[in-house]
Amino acid sequence: MIFDRVKPLDAILATAQRKSLHRSLSGLQLMLFGIGCIIGTGIFVLTAAGAQKAGPGLMLAFVIAGAVCIVAALCYAEVAAMIPVAGSAYTYSYASMGEFLAWTVGWALILEYAVAASAVSVGWSGYFSGTILQEFFGITLPPWLAAGPLSLGGAPGGFINLPALVIALLVTWLLMIGTSESAKVNAVLVAIKVAALTAFIALTLTSPEFDAERFNPFLPAGFGGSFGSGLGAVGAAATIFFAYVGFDAVSTAAEETKDPQKNVPFGLIGSLLFCTVFYILVAAGAIGTIGGQPIMGPDGIPFPAGSEELARQCAMPQYAAALVCSDEALAHVLRQIGFSGIGNMLGIAAFLALPSVILVLIFAQTRIFFVMSRDGLLPERLSAVHPRWKTPHIVTMMTGLVVAIGAAFFPVGLLADYANAGTLYAFFMVAVTVMVLRRKDPARHRPFRMMGVWIVAPLTLAGCLYLYLNLPWQAIAVLPAWGLIGVLIYLGYSRRRSHLGRGIVEVVDDVAGEETMVPIHPPAQGS
Ligand code: ALA
Repeated sequence: MIFDRVKPLDAILATAQRKSLHRSLSGLQLMLFGIGCIIGTGIFVLTAAGAQKAGPGLMLAFVIAGAVCIVAALCYAEVAAMIPVAGSAYTYSYASMGEFLAWTVGWALILEYAVAASAVSVGWSGYFSGTILQEFFGITLPPWLAAGPLSLGGAPGGFINLPALVIALLVTWLLMIGTSESAKVNAVLVAIKVAALTAFIALTLTSPEFDAERFNPFLPAGFGGSFGSGLGAVGAAATIFFAYVGFDAVSTAAEETKDPQKNVPFGLIGSLLFCTVFYILVAAGAIGTIGGQPIMGPDGIPFPAGSEELARQCAMPQYAAALVCSDEALAHVLRQIGFSGIGNMLGIAAFLALPSVILVLIFAQTRIFFVMSRDGLLPERLSAVHPRWKTPHIVTMMTGLVVAIGAAFFPVGLLADYANAGTLYAFFMVAVTVMVLRRKDPARHRPFRMMGVWIVAPLTLAGCLYLYLNLPWQAIAVLPAWGLIGVLIYLGYSRRRSHLGRGIVEVVDDVAGEETMVPIHPPAQGS
């Protein structure tokens, strides 16, 4: 049977015990860590795509996506505190639903982390080209170097997004030589991002340009669009869900947290609530000052965000100032309302802080690959640790190359939607895991025990499914297509090589740690 290989939770937990990391993180530090991963391209760039899908309903979209993330975060909090081991949703699924489904989750996490890292790189590129090159040095990149061939609004004729390619490779190199972000650097970058967003909110909401009339009509594309269109408030929610991706990274630090019962949920929920409030205010400020109505096609339906048609419209002079056409949405708003200098400073804040989001995402991806390769599901060569740098350099380099290629050739909106499809699947499976473990292993100690699990977990399932079905059709299709490739690789390679299948479980997941093989009962013949 394909669903039979469940990794014993005791073996997984033995890892955590052997590793026994020092519990030093406080709830506040965890929350800062979360905010550091969360605030990025989603709010700084995708605000434009969100407005093209929903108009002023973008504010509602932030509420919907935030609500789905909060129930998902509660599920993460319970399993992360209970199984505080590297590998996140992949490891949790391995312990509850078995190897095959865990493989599909690990496979989907490639979309969450690697593809999201490509998306953030493209977002960074918009601010680099617009603020640093253009505003400060007066250099305009030729269109063929500024965007991929599937061009983004305003840049028709793209061939390769050179800045996005370079930043992805640069961050990869930093990770290969062993750079990790210290809590201090993270705190500084969080302060920069929060200061930039606070200034944005204060200036826009008090601006004389602010006019409540701009919120009318509130839902020009309706509440939900037709299947596969990705339009309306829910369509926008499915896209700007990306702005919340990354909070789950908090769960990976559960093992290093003081009093995880209290602090893990505080870090997860706290960082999410904080960002949700900020995001709604930012959307209100942007739309209230320069308006955020979508550019409509001849049939009265908004042109798809990131499409060629929209790019052509955006190249017309009457749309030069439109929010939905900007590659650096927030800086653009401030420039439009007469705060060019502060707009440029916000651009610098994005320029400085977005690379750290890329770093965290690529780091998370390499650790997932690392754990999967230690489990034998991916070639062991991938988990080789560099003798001097002490990093899994091979897997980091391969991940970085994939991220860089994605960043060079795809538009940000499409990448974000693909990443969202994978992330929603992972969140869905974590909600299933919580319920399965409550049934299968009710007596096990849970440092954080969620109240109302039979309401919250099903709500998470429903929320994830709802957002997934409201993505544009390309992103809906990518998950089964990607999944099929994954299943073929699993059946053709990983299932035979699996350590669990061969009767061994390793109990170390630390990159530089020693390895111990623990024999377990080999699975029954024919499994
Ligand atoms: N939430 C992160 C961002 O918006 C991934 O960039």
